[in-house]
Amino acid sequence: MKVLITGGAGYIGSTVASACVDAGITPVLLDSLITGRAEFARELDWYQGDIADAGLIARVFAEHPDIEAVVHCAALIVVPDSVRDPVGYYQANVAKSLDLVRELLRHGCHRLVFSSTGCFYQPGPDGSVDEGSPIVPGSPYARTKAACEGMFADIAAGTPLRVLSLRYFNPVGADPRLRTGLQHRYPTHALGKLIQARESGQPFAITGTDYPTRDGSGIRDYVHVWDLAIAHVAALRRFDAALGRATAVPINLGTGTGTTVRELADAFNLIAEPPVSVVTADRRPGDVAGAFSRSDRAKRLLGWEPQLSLGDGISDSLRWAGVREARLAGL
Ligand SMILES: NC(=O)c1ccc[n+]([C@@H]2O[C@H](COP(=O)([O-])OP(=O)(O)OC[C@H]3O[C@@H](n4cnc5c(N)ncnc54)[C@H](O)[C@@H]3O)[C@@H](O)[C@H]2O)c1
Repeated sequence: MKVLITGGAGYIGSTVASACVDAGITPVLLDSLITGRAEFARELDWYQGDIADAGLIARVFAEHPDIEAVVHCAALIVVPDSVRDPVGYYQANVAKSLDLVRELLRHGCHRLVFSSTGCFYQPGPDGSVDEGSPIVPGSPYARTKAACEGMFADIAAGTPLRVLSLRYFNPVGADPRLRTGLQHRYPTHALGKLIQARESGQPFAITGTDYPTRDGSGIRDYVHVWDLAIAHVAALRRFDAALGRATAVPINLGTGTGTTVRELADAFNLIAEPPVSVVTADRRPGDVAGAFSRSDRAKRLLGWEPQLSLGDGISDSLRWAGVREARLAGL
């Protein structure tokens, strides 16, 4: 099987590409390198360019007529940037996705696995969500993802396009073989802040201790990026069966329990040497209690459950931090 991965030189797309290779699926990558890295693509078949470039898409399909599905990871993903530049974000994430899908239909490629998000849900009182939970995007970025899902569902209802939207929660870690990982030095989530605290010797602050969670700190659903990548392999292999008679299906990719910030800090300090000192502080403006997925749809439809632990995510993030500069220098 051969698949096109848009955004294949980014964090998640490159990990999906490695998981495909390991599973005997041939990936072809398309990436503009606006945030991706050529070093992540160079060992594979890849095209540098934009998903909205119809001529380039035609070339990809002319050179690879056996592409059976597309994993669409290409997007801009920085929430504060989307607040500053909503036009740019709708253009990049929604308008260009429409251009891409028009060309996929033209070239007879009807299976689309879409990188969506779990960040647009409104959680219930216990913080848990499933695919039927209300979608209340909290940023232009999150709304572009919801808009794409709606747009793809409308198109799928009236054309041969079929769509599996994989709603990721909070990816952490790196390819366990360290072929690729996060391009940025410090991820913006709490694990990134813990890594930063470890390097700087400063304490790590748990911001907010009065949320309605099991220990009062915020809750997130950290999923190892390798587990996410394996879910894409399952989505590609089981695509037709997972959809059945439906035309577009969303699937949460989370752990089922979530991790509080305090639990994350404790898990980090079991692994990190020297451990980071932890202090508590008030909530920051804009902070939310957070959410985790309670759904078993991924297990039912894809046969997928996370296999790697939070400790694996933390240690692979730390191992990646140790080789990141060399990998990005092409070594
Ligand atoms: N990282 C997360 O926390 C997270 C969570 C939920 C969903 N997602 C989704 O997963 C996908 C991948 O995210 P990521 O974390 O790997 O981000 P990333 O920035 O590392 O990867 C995105 C890739 O897409 C490429 N790209 C962007 N616009 C393009 C265009 N018009 N044409 C061609 N290439 C383009 C970039 O160069 C980059 O390589 C995104 O769709 C994102 O919305 C990410």
